[in-house]
Amino acid sequence: MKGEHLDQTSGITELNRKNARQMLGEFCSYLSEKNPKYNWVGIYALKSNKLILENYVGKPTVHEEINIGEGLCSQAIVQNRIVNEPDVNSNSQYLACSLETRSEVVVPVRYKGIPVGEIDIDSDTKGAFTKDDEEFLSTLSELIAYYVKILSD
Ligand code: SME
Repeated sequence: MKGEHLDQTSGITELNRKNARQMLGEFCSYLSEKNPKYNWVGIYALKSNKLILENYVGKPTVHEEINIGEGLCSQAIVQNRIVNEPDVNSNSQYLACSLETRSEVVVPVRYKGIPVGEIDIDSDTKGAFTKDDEEFLSTLSELIAYYVKILSD
């Protein structure tokens, strides 16, 4: 491909990534506004064996990048399942984001069955996440899979 065309291709790819990140930000805002117990809502994309925080609503976190192997966030990817921790302070794997957090749910986002990222939600309430939340968030994870996939490439 000619140099100029190559430039344009990467320009459009960057545009796609920007739009995907923005859409996921709106997704986080919508979820946190509708669900008062969802105190921090974020989306991580899996990239080169790291989880990269692409967008979130809530207090800033030091965990903008998480190496696979660390935290509850990694467990959801490695085990390809929902991690629902009713009491984060009792779990030695937990990486603290905010001192107020009491419970956390991490839902893998899969593209063609393979995890490409995750929805991560913290609550200041102990045991905040029910089976109903798990089902609801699994459904949503399918709806955003395309956008997370774009960011995980
Ligand atoms: N608690 C997560 C880290 C991310 S923060 O919740 C934003 C974990 O244990 O992996």
